[in-house]
Amino acid sequence: MPYPESLKKLIEKVEATRAARVERKKNNEEFPALELEERGPILENFHPDFIEGTRRKIKIGPSKGYAISNEMVDLLEAKSRVDPDLINLSEPDYETDVLIIGAGGAGTAAAILAAENGAKVLIATKLRHGDANTMMAEGGIQAADKVGKDSPYYHYLDILGGGHFVNDPELVYTMVQHAPDAIRWLEGLGTSFSKFEDGRMKTMHGGGTCRKRMHYAADITGAEIMKTIRDEARNHTDMIDVIEFCPAVELVLDDAGRCAGAVLYNLETAEYHFVKAKAVIITTGGSGRLHIQNFMTTNHYGATADGIVMAYRAGVPISFLHTVQYHPTGVVFPEQAEGILITEKFRGAGANVLNIKGEQFVYEREPRDVEAACIIRECSPGGRGNGVPTPTGKYGVWLDSPMIEMLKGEGTVKKEFPGKNILFRRFGIDISKEPMLIHPTLHYQNGGLDINSKCETNVPGLYAAGEVSGGVHGENRLMGNSLLDVMVFGRIAGTCAAEYIKDHDQIGKVNLDHVKRYNEEIETAGIEGNRISPMILPDYSNPDVREKQYTKDYFGTLS
Ligand code: FUM
Repeated sequence: MPYPESLKKLIEKVEATRAARVERKKNNEEFPALELEERGPILENFHPDFIEGTRRKIKIGPSKGYAISNEMVDLLEAKSRVDPDLINLSEPDYETDVLIIGAGGAGTAAAILAAENGAKVLIATKLRHGDANTMMAEGGIQAADKVGKDSPYYHYLDILGGGHFVNDPELVYTMVQHAPDAIRWLEGLGTSFSKFEDGRMKTMHGGGTCRKRMHYAADITGAEIMKTIRDEARNHTDMIDVIEFCPAVELVLDDAGRCAGAVLYNLETAEYHFVKAKAVIITTGGSGRLHIQNFMTTNHYGATADGIVMAYRAGVPISFLHTVQYHPTGVVFPEQAEGILITEKFRGAGANVLNIKGEQFVYEREPRDVEAACIIRECSPGGRGNGVPTPTGKYGVWLDSPMIEMLKGEGTVKKEFPGKNILFRRFGIDISKEPMLIHPTLHYQNGGLDINSKCETNVPGLYAAGEVSGGVHGENRLMGNSLLDVMVFGRIAGTCAAEYIKDHDQIGKVNLDHVKRYNEEIETAGIEGNRISPMILPDYSNPDVREKQYTKDYFGTLS
Protein backbone atom coordinates (compact mmCIF):
# COMPACT_ATOMS: atom_id res chain seq x y z
CA MET A 1 0.00 0.00 0.00
CA PRO A 2 1.53 3.39 -0.95
CA TYR A 3 1.60 6.17 1.60
CA PRO A 4 -1.86 7.68 2.12
CA GLU A 5 -2.32 11.45 1.74
CA SER A 6 -2.03 11.98 5.53
CA LEU A 7 1.50 10.51 5.54
CA LYS A 8 2.48 12.19 2.27
CA LYS A 9 1.67 15.51 3.92
CA LEU A 10 4.00 14.65 6.81
CA ILE A 11 6.75 13.56 4.42
CA GLU A 12 6.82 17.15 3.17
CA LYS A 13 8.27 18.11 6.57
CA VAL A 14 11.10 15.61 6.06
CA GLU A 15 11.75 17.02 2.61
CA ALA A 16 11.79 20.55 3.98
CA THR A 17 14.76 19.81 6.27
CA ARG A 18 16.63 17.40 3.97
CA ALA A 19 18.93 19.73 2.03
CA ALA A 20 20.26 21.36 5.22
CA ARG A 21 20.78 17.98 6.89
CA VAL A 22 22.67 16.65 3.88
CA GLU A 23 24.85 19.74 3.88
CA ARG A 24 25.68 19.27 7.55
CA LYS A 25 26.54 15.63 6.96
CA LYS A 26 28.82 16.56 4.08
CA ASN A 27 30.61 18.96 6.44
CA ASN A 28 30.92 16.20 9.06
CA GLU A 29 28.66 18.12 11.43
CA GLU A 30 27.00 15.10 13.01
CA PHE A 31 24.09 15.25 15.42
CA PRO A 32 25.84 14.88 18.81
CA ALA A 33 26.11 11.33 20.14
CA LEU A 34 25.00 10.80 23.73
CA GLU A 35 27.58 10.88 26.49
CA LEU A 36 28.01 7.56 28.30
CA GLU A 37 26.29 8.87 31.44
CA GLU A 38 23.30 10.13 29.42
CA ARG A 39 22.52 6.65 28.14
CA GLY A 40 21.52 5.06 31.45
CA PRO A 41 18.47 7.20 32.25
CA ILE A 42 17.15 6.89 28.68
CA LEU A 43 17.47 3.11 28.79
CA GLU A 44 15.88 2.91 32.22
CA ASN A 45 12.92 5.04 31.19
CA PHE A 46 12.29 3.88 27.66
CA HIS A 47 13.91 0.55 26.84
CA PRO A 48 11.35 -2.32 27.05
CA ASP A 49 13.76 -4.39 29.19
CA PHE A 50 13.20 -1.97 32.06
CA ILE A 51 9.39 -2.01 32.12
CA GLU A 52 8.24 -3.19 35.50
CA GLY A 53 6.40 -6.50 35.61
CA THR A 54 7.77 -7.80 32.33
CA ARG A 55 10.30 -10.14 33.95
CA ARG A 56 10.02 -12.73 36.67
CA LYS A 57 12.30 -15.17 38.46
CA ILE A 58 12.47 -18.74 37.20
CA LYS A 59 11.30 -21.07 39.95
CA ILE A 60 13.14 -24.20 38.85
CA GLY A 61 16.19 -25.50 37.05
CA PRO A 62 19.90 -24.63 37.00
CA SER A 63 19.32 -20.86 36.89
CA LYS A 64 16.53 -20.81 39.44
CA GLY A 65 16.02 -17.29 40.81
CA TYR A 66 17.22 -15.54 37.63
CA ALA A 67 14.68 -12.97 36.38
CA ILE A 68 14.04 -12.99 32.63
CA SER A 69 11.11 -12.19 30.35
CA ASN A 70 7.77 -13.66 31.36
CA GLU A 71 7.43 -15.25 27.93
CA MET A 72 10.71 -17.13 28.33
CA VAL A 73 9.91 -18.18 31.90
CA ASP A 74 6.56 -19.53 30.67
CA LEU A 75 8.48 -21.89 28.39
CA LEU A 76 11.00 -22.91 31.04
CA GLU A 77 8.30 -23.59 33.60
CA ALA A 78 6.38 -25.83 31.20
CA LYS A 79 6.30 -29.61 31.02
CA SER A 80 7.83 -31.68 28.29
CA ARG A 81 5.84 -32.41 25.14
CA VAL A 82 6.72 -36.06 25.59
CA ASP A 83 6.00 -38.60 28.24
CA PRO A 84 9.50 -40.06 28.80
CA ASP A 85 7.99 -43.50 29.44
CA LEU A 86 6.43 -43.59 25.99
CA ILE A 87 9.50 -42.80 23.95
CA ASN A 88 11.24 -45.89 22.70
CA LEU A 89 14.96 -45.44 23.17
CA SER A 90 15.88 -49.09 22.71
CA GLU A 91 16.12 -48.87 18.91
CA PRO A 92 17.50 -45.62 17.53
CA ASP A 93 15.87 -44.42 14.31
CA TYR A 94 19.14 -42.77 13.33
CA GLU A 95 22.72 -43.08 14.57
CA THR A 96 25.48 -40.59 13.97
CA ASP A 97 28.68 -39.19 15.43
CA VAL A 98 27.50 -35.60 15.78
CA LEU A 99 23.88 -34.52 15.83
CA ILE A 100 23.35 -30.86 15.02
CA ILE A 101 20.01 -29.41 16.04
CA GLY A 102 19.21 -26.41 13.86
CA ALA A 103 20.24 -25.65 10.30
CA GLY A 104 21.02 -21.95 10.20
CA GLY A 105 24.44 -20.36 9.98
CA ALA A 106 25.93 -21.82 13.16
CA GLY A 107 24.58 -25.33 12.55
CA THR A 108 25.71 -25.42 8.96
CA ALA A 109 29.18 -24.07 9.72
CA ALA A 110 29.48 -26.60 12.55
CA ALA A 111 28.45 -29.43 10.23
CA ILE A 112 31.09 -28.54 7.65
CA LEU A 113 33.88 -28.38 10.23
CA ALA A 114 32.78 -31.53 12.05
CA ALA A 115 32.70 -33.40 8.74
CA GLU A 116 36.07 -32.03 7.71
CA ASN A 117 37.44 -33.31 11.01
CA GLY A 118 36.22 -36.81 10.32
CA ALA A 119 32.82 -36.95 12.03
CA LYS A 120 29.62 -38.26 10.48
CA VAL A 121 27.01 -35.55 10.92
CA LEU A 122 23.25 -35.48 11.02
CA ILE A 123 21.55 -32.09 10.92
CA ALA A 124 17.98 -32.09 12.19
CA THR A 125 15.99 -28.96 11.49
CA LYS A 126 12.49 -27.73 12.25
CA LEU A 127 11.81 -26.24 8.84
CA ARG A 128 14.03 -26.30 5.75
CA HIS A 129 17.82 -26.15 5.69
CA GLY A 130 18.55 -22.44 5.90
CA ASP A 131 15.20 -21.29 7.36
CA ALA A 132 16.88 -19.28 10.06
CA ASN A 133 17.70 -15.80 11.25
CA THR A 134 21.06 -16.06 9.46
CA MET A 135 19.24 -16.16 6.13
CA MET A 136 17.39 -12.97 7.05
CA ALA A 137 20.42 -11.01 8.28
CA GLU A 138 21.00 -7.97 6.15
CA GLY A 139 23.65 -5.50 7.17
CA GLY A 140 26.90 -7.35 7.49
CA ILE A 141 29.56 -9.22 9.42
CA GLN A 142 32.27 -7.50 11.44
CA ALA A 143 35.94 -8.44 11.23
CA ALA A 144 39.01 -6.33 11.94
CA ASP A 145 40.97 -7.42 8.90
CA LYS A 146 42.14 -4.07 7.55
CA VAL A 147 45.69 -4.19 8.81
CA GLY A 148 47.05 -0.82 9.89
CA LYS A 149 43.61 0.77 10.19
CA ASP A 150 41.93 -1.66 12.56
CA SER A 151 42.80 -4.51 14.84
CA PRO A 152 40.95 -7.18 16.87
CA TYR A 153 41.88 -5.03 19.88
CA TYR A 154 39.52 -2.22 18.77
CA HIS A 155 36.86 -4.74 17.81
CA TYR A 156 37.14 -6.24 21.30
CA LEU A 157 36.71 -2.84 22.95
CA ASP A 158 33.70 -1.97 20.79
CA ILE A 159 31.98 -5.23 21.72
CA LEU A 160 32.59 -4.66 25.42
CA GLY A 161 31.33 -1.08 25.19
CA GLY A 162 28.18 -2.13 23.32
CA GLY A 163 27.57 -4.95 25.80
CA HIS A 164 27.86 -2.62 28.84
CA PHE A 165 31.22 -4.14 29.85
CA VAL A 166 29.71 -7.31 31.30
CA ASN A 167 30.44 -9.64 28.36
CA ASP A 168 32.38 -12.87 28.87
CA PRO A 169 35.89 -11.61 27.97
CA GLU A 170 37.16 -15.00 26.85
CA LEU A 171 34.32 -15.41 24.38
CA VAL A 172 34.82 -11.88 23.06
CA TYR A 173 38.56 -12.48 22.67
CA THR A 174 37.92 -15.72 20.81
CA MET A 175 35.40 -14.12 18.47
CA VAL A 176 37.48 -11.11 17.48
CA GLN A 177 40.64 -13.19 17.02
CA HIS A 178 38.87 -15.66 14.71
CA ALA A 179 36.93 -12.99 12.79
CA PRO A 180 39.39 -12.30 9.95
CA ASP A 181 39.76 -16.03 9.38
CA ALA A 182 35.99 -16.46 9.20
CA ILE A 183 35.81 -13.85 6.43
CA ARG A 184 38.65 -15.55 4.50
CA TRP A 185 36.87 -18.91 4.90
CA LEU A 186 33.57 -17.53 3.63
CA GLU A 187 35.21 -15.82 0.70
CA GLY A 188 37.10 -18.98 -0.14
CA LEU A 189 33.83 -20.89 -0.26
CA GLY A 190 32.43 -18.35 -2.71
CA THR A 191 30.59 -15.72 -0.68
CA SER A 192 30.27 -12.60 -2.84
CA PHE A 193 31.05 -9.73 -0.51
CA SER A 194 30.58 -6.20 -1.89
CA LYS A 195 33.90 -4.97 -3.26
CA PHE A 196 35.57 -1.97 -4.84
CA GLU A 197 36.63 -2.28 -8.45
CA ASP A 198 40.21 -3.01 -7.40
CA GLY A 199 39.02 -6.06 -5.43
CA ARG A 200 39.25 -4.68 -1.91
CA MET A 201 36.27 -5.47 0.28
CA LYS A 202 33.94 -2.62 1.10
CA THR A 203 33.46 -2.05 4.82
CA MET A 204 31.37 0.39 6.79
CA HIS A 205 30.42 1.49 10.29
CA GLY A 206 27.67 0.04 12.41
CA GLY A 207 26.27 1.50 15.62
CA GLY A 208 28.92 1.56 18.36
CA THR A 209 31.93 0.79 16.13
CA CYS A 210 35.06 2.91 16.11
CA ARG A 211 36.32 1.54 12.79
CA LYS A 212 34.69 0.62 9.50
CA ARG A 213 34.83 -3.18 9.69
CA MET A 214 31.39 -4.29 8.54
CA HIS A 215 31.77 -6.52 5.51
CA TYR A 216 28.58 -6.98 3.55
CA ALA A 217 26.87 -8.27 0.45
CA ALA A 218 24.53 -5.39 -0.40
CA ASP A 219 21.65 -5.66 2.10
CA ILE A 220 21.33 -9.43 1.79
CA THR A 221 24.51 -10.50 3.55
CA GLY A 222 22.90 -13.32 5.52
CA ALA A 223 21.27 -14.85 2.47
CA GLU A 224 24.54 -14.71 0.55
CA ILE A 225 26.44 -16.40 3.39
CA MET A 226 23.74 -18.97 4.10
CA LYS A 227 23.43 -19.92 0.44
CA THR A 228 27.19 -20.42 0.22
CA ILE A 229 27.62 -22.57 3.30
CA ARG A 230 24.45 -24.54 2.67
CA ASP A 231 25.81 -25.49 -0.76
CA GLU A 232 29.10 -26.45 0.83
CA ALA A 233 27.43 -28.62 3.47
CA ARG A 234 25.17 -30.28 0.92
CA ASN A 235 28.23 -31.14 -1.15
CA HIS A 236 29.60 -33.27 1.71
CA THR A 237 27.10 -35.98 0.79
CA ASP A 238 29.21 -38.74 2.29
CA MET A 239 29.51 -37.09 5.69
CA ILE A 240 26.50 -34.82 6.25
CA ASP A 241 22.84 -35.84 6.23
CA VAL A 242 19.99 -33.40 6.74
CA ILE A 243 16.50 -34.15 8.02
CA GLU A 244 14.05 -31.31 7.52
CA PHE A 245 10.75 -30.62 9.27
CA CYS A 246 11.91 -32.61 12.30
CA PRO A 247 12.55 -30.32 15.28
CA ALA A 248 14.21 -31.79 18.34
CA VAL A 249 11.97 -31.74 21.41
CA GLU A 250 14.20 -33.30 24.10
CA LEU A 251 17.84 -34.17 24.54
CA VAL A 252 18.76 -37.72 25.51
CA LEU A 253 21.50 -38.39 28.07
CA ASP A 254 23.34 -41.58 28.95
CA ASP A 255 23.90 -43.09 32.38
CA ALA A 256 27.22 -41.25 32.68
CA GLY A 257 25.38 -37.93 32.28
CA ARG A 258 26.72 -37.33 28.77
CA CYS A 259 24.59 -36.05 25.97
CA ALA A 260 23.76 -38.98 23.71
CA GLY A 261 21.26 -37.71 21.18
CA ALA A 262 17.80 -36.24 20.96
CA VAL A 263 14.16 -37.00 20.36
CA LEU A 264 12.83 -35.43 17.17
CA TYR A 265 9.21 -34.70 16.30
CA ASN A 266 8.31 -35.25 12.68
CA LEU A 267 6.02 -32.37 11.71
CA GLU A 268 4.66 -34.26 8.71
CA THR A 269 3.88 -37.63 10.28
CA ALA A 270 3.51 -36.59 13.96
CA GLU A 271 5.95 -39.39 14.88
CA TYR A 272 8.81 -39.17 17.34
CA HIS A 273 12.27 -40.37 16.31
CA PHE A 274 15.27 -41.11 18.48
CA VAL A 275 18.65 -40.03 17.14
CA LYS A 276 21.59 -41.59 18.97
CA ALA A 277 24.75 -39.49 18.79
CA LYS A 278 28.15 -39.32 20.44
CA ALA A 279 27.94 -35.53 20.63
CA VAL A 280 25.21 -32.96 20.09
CA ILE A 281 25.49 -29.33 19.01
CA ILE A 282 22.56 -27.04 19.65
CA THR A 283 22.26 -24.26 17.09
CA THR A 284 18.55 -23.50 17.25
CA GLY A 285 18.95 -19.71 17.14
CA GLY A 286 16.74 -17.19 18.86
CA SER A 287 13.27 -16.52 20.16
CA GLY A 288 11.69 -13.57 18.34
CA ARG A 289 8.53 -15.55 17.75
CA LEU A 290 7.79 -15.38 21.47
CA HIS A 291 6.78 -11.78 20.63
CA ILE A 292 8.08 -10.60 23.99
CA GLN A 293 5.90 -7.75 25.28
CA ASN A 294 3.79 -8.16 22.13
CA PHE A 295 6.53 -6.69 19.97
CA MET A 296 6.59 -7.35 16.25
CA THR A 297 9.72 -9.26 15.21
CA THR A 298 12.32 -9.57 12.48
CA ASN A 299 12.77 -13.27 13.23
CA HIS A 300 11.99 -16.28 11.11
CA TYR A 301 8.95 -18.41 11.80
CA GLY A 302 10.78 -21.09 13.78
CA ALA A 303 12.54 -18.81 16.29
CA THR A 304 10.86 -20.14 19.45
CA ALA A 305 13.74 -20.81 21.90
CA ASP A 306 13.52 -24.62 21.61
CA GLY A 307 17.24 -25.13 22.23
CA ILE A 308 17.18 -23.11 25.44
CA VAL A 309 14.27 -25.19 26.75
CA MET A 310 15.84 -28.58 25.96
CA ALA A 311 19.28 -27.75 27.30
CA TYR A 312 17.91 -26.06 30.41
CA ARG A 313 15.98 -29.21 31.26
CA ALA A 314 19.22 -31.16 30.82
CA GLY A 315 20.94 -28.89 33.36
CA VAL A 316 22.62 -26.14 31.32
CA PRO A 317 22.49 -22.70 33.03
CA ILE A 318 21.53 -19.55 31.11
CA SER A 319 22.86 -16.01 31.25
CA PHE A 320 22.25 -12.57 29.74
CA LEU A 321 18.70 -13.53 28.84
CA HIS A 322 17.46 -10.64 31.00
CA THR A 323 18.18 -8.35 28.06
CA VAL A 324 16.42 -8.56 24.73
CA GLN A 325 17.43 -6.73 21.62
CA TYR A 326 14.90 -4.51 19.89
CA HIS A 327 16.31 -3.48 16.54
CA PRO A 328 15.76 0.25 16.19
CA THR A 329 14.40 0.11 12.66
CA GLY A 330 11.63 -2.33 11.82
CA VAL A 331 8.91 -1.64 9.25
CA VAL A 332 5.80 -0.18 10.89
CA PHE A 333 4.07 0.80 7.63
CA PRO A 334 2.84 -0.82 5.36
CA GLU A 335 1.35 -3.18 7.91
CA GLN A 336 1.73 -6.23 5.67
CA ALA A 337 5.48 -5.92 6.22
CA GLU A 338 5.26 -5.10 9.92
CA GLY A 339 8.32 -6.05 11.94
CA ILE A 340 10.59 -6.74 8.97
CA LEU A 341 14.15 -5.58 9.49
CA ILE A 342 15.41 -2.41 7.85
CA THR A 343 19.13 -2.79 8.08
CA GLU A 344 21.23 -0.51 10.23
CA LYS A 345 23.30 -0.10 7.10
CA PHE A 346 20.88 2.65 6.00
CA ARG A 347 22.01 4.65 9.01
CA GLY A 348 25.61 3.63 8.39
CA ALA A 349 25.22 5.11 4.90
CA GLY A 350 24.02 8.37 6.40
CA ALA A 351 20.19 8.19 6.61
CA ASN A 352 18.84 10.33 9.47
CA VAL A 353 16.12 9.28 11.88
CA LEU A 354 13.45 12.00 12.12
CA ASN A 355 10.33 12.79 14.11
CA ILE A 356 6.93 14.05 12.94
CA LYS A 357 8.38 17.55 12.55
CA GLY A 358 11.08 16.31 10.22
CA GLU A 359 13.68 16.97 12.94
CA GLN A 360 16.62 14.84 14.02
CA PHE A 361 16.41 13.74 17.64
CA VAL A 362 19.14 11.10 17.91
CA TYR A 363 22.58 10.40 16.48
CA GLU A 364 21.84 7.56 14.09
CA ARG A 365 24.68 5.27 15.15
CA GLU A 366 24.15 4.90 18.88
CA PRO A 367 24.43 1.30 20.15
CA ARG A 368 21.22 -0.53 19.38
CA ASP A 369 19.58 -0.48 22.79
CA VAL A 370 20.17 3.25 23.15
CA GLU A 371 18.97 4.03 19.61
CA ALA A 372 15.82 1.94 20.12
CA ALA A 373 15.10 3.59 23.49
CA CYS A 374 15.45 7.06 21.94
CA ILE A 375 13.00 6.14 19.18
CA ILE A 376 10.51 4.77 21.70
CA ARG A 377 10.91 7.95 23.76
CA GLU A 378 10.18 10.05 20.68
CA CYS A 379 7.09 8.03 19.76
CA SER A 380 5.51 7.31 23.11
CA PRO A 381 2.87 9.63 24.50
CA GLY A 382 4.62 9.30 27.90
CA GLY A 383 7.84 10.44 26.22
CA ARG A 384 8.13 13.27 23.77
CA GLY A 385 4.99 12.40 21.80
CA ASN A 386 6.60 13.23 18.45
CA GLY A 387 5.79 9.95 16.68
CA VAL A 388 4.22 9.73 13.24
CA PRO A 389 0.80 8.04 13.46
CA THR A 390 0.06 5.21 11.03
CA PRO A 391 -3.43 4.73 9.58
CA THR A 392 -4.11 2.01 12.17
CA GLY A 393 -3.03 4.03 15.18
CA LYS A 394 0.54 2.86 15.65
CA TYR A 395 3.50 5.22 15.83
CA GLY A 396 6.81 5.37 14.06
CA VAL A 397 9.55 7.77 13.01
CA TRP A 398 11.07 8.41 9.59
CA LEU A 399 14.26 6.86 8.28
CA ASP A 400 15.31 9.24 5.54
CA SER A 401 16.66 6.90 2.86
CA PRO A 402 16.45 9.48 0.01
CA MET A 403 19.26 11.50 1.58
CA ILE A 404 21.62 8.59 0.79
CA GLU A 405 21.10 9.42 -2.90
CA MET A 406 22.17 13.00 -2.22
CA LEU A 407 25.18 11.91 -0.18
CA LYS A 408 26.43 9.02 -2.27
CA GLY A 409 24.98 9.58 -5.72
CA GLU A 410 21.86 8.70 -7.65
CA GLY A 411 21.12 4.99 -7.85
CA THR A 412 22.92 4.15 -4.58
CA VAL A 413 19.78 3.03 -2.77
CA LYS A 414 18.82 0.62 -5.52
CA LYS A 415 22.35 -0.75 -5.77
CA GLU A 416 23.24 -1.01 -2.10
CA PHE A 417 19.80 -1.95 -0.76
CA PRO A 418 18.21 -4.20 -3.39
CA GLY A 419 16.30 -6.24 -0.81
CA LYS A 420 14.50 -3.30 0.77
CA ASN A 421 14.09 -1.54 -2.56
CA ILE A 422 12.16 -4.51 -3.92
CA LEU A 423 10.13 -4.99 -0.74
CA PHE A 424 8.88 -1.39 -0.69
CA ARG A 425 8.38 -1.24 -4.45
CA ARG A 426 5.82 -4.02 -4.05
CA PHE A 427 3.80 -1.58 -1.97
CA GLY A 428 4.24 1.29 -4.40
CA ILE A 429 6.87 3.08 -2.30
CA ASP A 430 10.16 4.16 -3.87
CA ILE A 431 12.60 4.41 -0.95
CA SER A 432 15.09 6.36 -3.01
CA LYS A 433 12.50 9.14 -3.08
CA GLU A 434 10.35 8.61 0.01
CA PRO A 435 11.51 7.86 3.58
CA MET A 436 10.52 4.69 5.46
CA LEU A 437 8.35 4.66 8.57
CA ILE A 438 10.00 2.61 11.31
CA HIS A 439 9.71 1.51 14.92
CA PRO A 440 11.86 -0.82 17.08
CA THR A 441 11.17 -4.51 16.48
CA LEU A 442 12.13 -7.60 18.50
CA HIS A 443 15.35 -8.79 16.91
CA TYR A 444 17.79 -10.75 19.01
CA GLN A 445 18.24 -12.82 22.11
CA ASN A 446 21.32 -11.21 23.67
CA GLY A 447 21.87 -14.13 26.03
CA GLY A 448 21.34 -17.87 26.17
CA LEU A 449 23.04 -21.09 27.18
CA ASP A 450 26.32 -20.82 29.06
CA ILE A 451 29.25 -21.99 26.97
CA ASN A 452 33.01 -21.68 27.14
CA SER A 453 35.26 -20.70 24.26
CA LYS A 454 35.17 -24.29 22.93
CA CYS A 455 31.35 -24.06 22.81
CA GLU A 456 31.14 -26.70 25.54
CA THR A 457 28.23 -26.58 27.96
CA ASN A 458 28.41 -28.12 31.43
CA VAL A 459 26.87 -31.33 30.06
CA PRO A 460 29.65 -33.48 28.54
CA GLY A 461 29.15 -33.98 24.82
CA LEU A 462 26.70 -31.09 24.53
CA TYR A 463 27.80 -28.00 22.62
CA ALA A 464 26.00 -24.80 21.69
CA ALA A 465 26.80 -22.04 19.22
CA GLY A 466 25.23 -18.88 17.83
CA GLU A 467 22.19 -17.02 19.07
CA VAL A 468 21.15 -19.85 21.40
CA SER A 469 24.26 -19.22 23.51
CA GLY A 470 24.98 -16.31 25.82
CA GLY A 471 27.92 -14.27 27.00
CA VAL A 472 29.79 -12.92 24.03
CA HIS A 473 27.47 -9.94 23.49
CA GLY A 474 26.94 -9.08 27.14
CA GLU A 475 23.75 -7.10 27.55
CA ASN A 476 23.56 -5.70 24.03
CA ARG A 477 24.91 -7.02 20.76
CA LEU A 478 26.31 -4.67 18.15
CA MET A 479 25.39 -4.96 14.49
CA GLY A 480 27.35 -7.45 12.44
CA ASN A 481 28.47 -9.48 15.43
CA SER A 482 25.68 -11.99 15.06
CA LEU A 483 26.74 -13.32 11.66
CA LEU A 484 30.25 -13.31 13.07
CA ASP A 485 29.17 -15.18 16.19
CA VAL A 486 27.48 -17.93 14.17
CA MET A 487 30.46 -18.34 11.86
CA VAL A 488 33.19 -18.29 14.50
CA PHE A 489 31.47 -20.36 17.17
CA GLY A 490 29.72 -22.64 14.67
CA ARG A 491 33.11 -23.58 13.26
CA ILE A 492 34.60 -24.02 16.72
CA ALA A 493 31.67 -26.17 17.89
CA GLY A 494 31.99 -28.46 14.86
CA THR A 495 35.73 -28.83 15.30
CA CYS A 496 35.56 -29.43 19.06
CA ALA A 497 32.67 -31.91 18.85
CA ALA A 498 34.57 -33.92 16.23
CA GLU A 499 37.59 -33.90 18.51
CA TYR A 500 35.52 -34.93 21.56
CA ILE A 501 34.07 -38.03 19.95
CA LYS A 502 37.54 -39.40 19.25
CA ASP A 503 37.92 -39.98 23.01
CA HIS A 504 34.26 -40.64 23.75
CA ASP A 505 32.98 -43.09 21.21
CA GLN A 506 31.08 -45.32 23.62
CA ILE A 507 27.56 -44.34 24.62
CA GLY A 508 26.16 -45.67 27.90
CA LYS A 509 22.56 -46.60 28.65
CA VAL A 510 20.39 -43.84 27.21
CA ASN A 511 17.52 -42.28 29.10
CA LEU A 512 15.19 -39.33 29.54
CA ASP A 513 15.49 -39.29 33.33
CA HIS A 514 16.34 -35.59 33.38
CA VAL A 515 12.96 -34.90 31.77
CA LYS A 516 11.17 -36.91 34.45
CA ARG A 517 13.08 -35.05 37.15
CA TYR A 518 12.24 -31.72 35.56
CA ASN A 519 8.55 -32.54 35.38
CA GLU A 520 8.70 -33.49 39.07
CA GLU A 521 10.44 -30.23 39.89
CA ILE A 522 7.57 -28.35 38.25
CA GLU A 523 5.09 -30.21 40.43
CA THR A 524 7.12 -29.65 43.59
CA ALA A 525 7.43 -25.93 42.90
CA GLY A 526 3.64 -25.77 42.63
CA ILE A 527 3.73 -24.35 39.12
CA GLU A 528 0.23 -24.52 37.73
CA GLY A 529 -1.16 -24.64 34.24
CA ASN A 530 -0.90 -27.02 31.34
CA ARG A 531 1.82 -25.36 29.38
CA ILE A 532 4.15 -27.58 27.38
CA SER A 533 7.37 -26.74 25.60
CA PRO A 534 9.32 -26.44 23.35
CA MET A 535 6.79 -24.31 21.55
CA ILE A 536 8.06 -25.48 18.09
CA LEU A 537 5.79 -23.12 16.18
CA PRO A 538 4.55 -19.72 17.28
CA ASP A 539 1.30 -19.10 19.05
CA TYR A 540 -0.59 -18.39 15.86
CA SER A 541 0.13 -21.94 14.74
CA ASN A 542 -2.18 -24.94 14.72
CA PRO A 543 -3.32 -25.44 18.34
CA ASP A 544 -2.92 -29.21 17.91
CA VAL A 545 0.81 -28.81 17.47
CA ARG A 546 1.03 -26.26 20.24
CA GLU A 547 -1.03 -27.76 23.01
CA LYS A 548 -1.38 -31.51 22.68
CA GLN A 549 1.02 -33.46 24.79
CA TYR A 550 2.39 -36.84 23.85
CA THR A 551 0.74 -38.66 26.75
CA LYS A 552 -1.17 -41.88 27.03
CA ASP A 553 -4.42 -39.90 26.68
CA TYR A 554 -3.33 -38.13 23.54
CA PHE A 555 -1.80 -41.27 22.09
CA GLY A 556 -5.19 -42.91 22.45
CA THR A 557 -6.86 -40.21 20.40
CA LEU A 558 -4.48 -40.81 17.50
CA SER A 559 -5.37 -44.42 16.86
O1 FUM B 1 20.75 -3.95 10.88
C1 FUM B 1 21.12 -5.03 10.47
O2 FUM B 1 21.43 -5.22 9.30
C2 FUM B 1 21.19 -6.13 11.40
C3 FUM B 1 22.34 -6.71 11.57
C4 FUM B 1 22.57 -7.50 12.78
O3 FUM B 1 21.65 -7.71 13.57
O4 FUM B 1 23.72 -7.87 13.00
